[in-house]
Amino acid sequence: MSETAIFEINGERYELPVITGTENEQGIDIKALRAVSGCITLDPGFKNTGSTKSAITFLDGENGILRYRGYPIEQLAEKASFLEVAFLLIYGELPSKEELASFTNSITKHTLVHEDMKQFFEAYPPKAHPMGILASMVCSLSTFYPESQNPNRDKDAVDLTIHRLIAKIPTLAAWSYKNAMRHPFMYPKNTFNYCENFLYMMFGMPTEDYTPDPVVVDALNKLLILHADHEQNCSASTVRIVGSSQANLYASISAGVSALWGPLHGGANQAVIEMLTKIQEDGGDLDKWIAKAKDKNDPFRLMGFGHRVYKNFDPRAKIIKKACDDVLEKLGINDPILEIAKKLEKVALEDEYFVKRGLYPNVDFYSGIIYKALNIPSEMFTVMFALGRLPGWIAQWKEMIENNEPIGRPRQIYTGATERDYVSIDKR
Ligand code: CMC
Repeated sequence: MSETAIFEINGERYELPVITGTENEQGIDIKALRAVSGCITLDPGFKNTGSTKSAITFLDGENGILRYRGYPIEQLAEKASFLEVAFLLIYGELPSKEELASFTNSITKHTLVHEDMKQFFEAYPPKAHPMGILASMVCSLSTFYPESQNPNRDKDAVDLTIHRLIAKIPTLAAWSYKNAMRHPFMYPKNTFNYCENFLYMMFGMPTEDYTPDPVVVDALNKLLILHADHEQNCSASTVRIVGSSQANLYASISAGVSALWGPLHGGANQAVIEMLTKIQEDGGDLDKWIAKAKDKNDPFRLMGFGHRVYKNFDPRAKIIKKACDDVLEKLGINDPILEIAKKLEKVALEDEYFVKRGLYPNVDFYSGIIYKALNIPSEMFTVMFALGRLPGWIAQWKEMIENNEPIGRPRQIYTGATERDYVSIDKR
């Protein structure tokens, strides 16, 4: 394999190094290109640009492979706990028994949020979107822990911030839901495990006992694992780029939450269920909705279809589809929305437009149906994605800091007006 690439422009040839990853992916290192040739590369949406070298997640879109630190997603989703996967992503190796016990203990100890933060929740209108609340609350945590704002980070202080984030995000998420319901907030119960505790804070009431259903706990554990990292996606790249300015970890994660909110990224799970409901209420004419999705003059897209990287299938969607069937069966739920989803998937996968463009159901297509079965309201779906993605964001941030990566600052090709003189307002 060649170790250099030749770049030729205006009759000049330049040799550029080729970088090869552990899975034999190749990239041309263009760092020196501008200095030697005056050229930059142009790639809107970074569709073909590697922003970093990373050892966290391997993804092969053509073959539907996803591995965290080398471990196949199928094995982790089947056998691991979410906190085990969080440890793996953040610290690089599966934890020993002792390491997991100490990690879990530390997370469990930090689940409370400062009592003063309750007032912030109460100031939001009942219809406030929980993602807006979550982004603000995560950033607000930095004001309660000012030591976390020091860019000269020592390892223990960073670990404490990481543990606080993982511990407090379920409390913040559940409280944003309770706020919307105008129900009393439930304090964390540290005898429960991570997923049980979240469900307890969401669905428990001070007036009655609540024991989470193990089927629901299991499904939630799997969903969080499936969402835990996805290499340099929009929100992870956002976290890395915000963190590269040495903004603190809370602020960087808050930016990731905001990036995830959009319907083209994590917000798709809410959009999918709203779309399926709309199709159902409209009489279920799938051909009509497929035609709308194909019409370039119509802004409608089939939510939950297509992916920047996966062009054959999304391995997470495959696992979720099965989990979805299991959960609905175990909970005895017969959801007509699932029938619409299955039919829509079939029709789309046979349609030339979707086949030609490699548009397959993604992770968000089925996750909304499971969340619905678990009684989680649709505005909370993207919050669930954020709970799952948190360890991935943290791992990406930590890697960027440990590798001493420079501040993220892309270039551009300017296409605006050339120099002109200011004209006073009465002469315009
Ligand atoms: N429905 C109809 N047409 C689509 C769709 C769709 N869902 N997705 C892509 N296309 C078409 C698009 O119009 C374009 O057609 P053409 O080549 O004729 O111009 C072609 O497919 C390529 O699309 P693109 O927008 O250039 O692809 P992208 O890689 O920039 O976008 C995407 C990827 C996920 C943003 C896009 O497929 C999409 O908007 N999907 C719906 C939203 C969604 O489900 N997002 C969740 C992604 S998975 C969760 C996550 O990891 O964030």
